Amino acid sequence: MNHMNGNCPKLYEERGYAMKHELLMEFTDKQIEQVDELIRKYRTIPGSLLVVLEEVQKVCTYLPMCLQRYVAENMNISPSTVHGVVTFYSYFSTVPKGRRVIKVCSGTACYVKRSQDITNSLQQHLHIKDGEVTEDGEYSLEEVRCLGACGLAPVVMIGADTFGLVDPEKAEEILLKDKVEESHVG
Ligand code: FES
Repeated sequence: MNHMNGNCPKLYEERGYAMKHELLMEFTDKQIEQVDELIRKYRTIPGSLLVVLEEVQKVCTYLPMCLQRYVAENMNISPSTVHGVVTFYSYFSTVPKGRRVIKVCSGTACYVKRSQDITNSLQQHLHIKDGEVTEDGEYSLEEVRCLGACGLAPVVMIGADTFGLVDPEKAEEILLKDKVEESHVG
């Protein structure tokens, strides 16, 4: 598959081939093509780095160093600037995420209603720790600050779906609910 097309001259360089080879170890052809499209769209627009990184993360789900370097090279921005932005905003992730990201709120209202027990239960059930991805790539787990639904504490989000008043004794039930809802959507 030829990625070396379009209006981005640097993509033709040998270095570009080497960088793409590195990316292909992590991502699919299609993902890389989408990243190239984003770079072509934004590379001449000053101050667009944040938007590019947001869009690239949507495509690739996370921003490992090889991808950061690739964006930097092709946007004509220093790798340290890109890395600085990625590490400054907690929104960006440098590690892989599951297809469905589980966020367990550990804000005060949720904490006092045993959010830690929910995290422990989900960790045991999914055989992962905080920040890890299940073997099948389906779920990753994160403890986060207040999700803005304190009246429903303790709160868990799976993808864009919010689960409130979660019973810490039956936390794994939200995984079943999520599967049912997903199957209705899908
Ligand atoms: S503290 Fe959990 S939603 Fe606010």
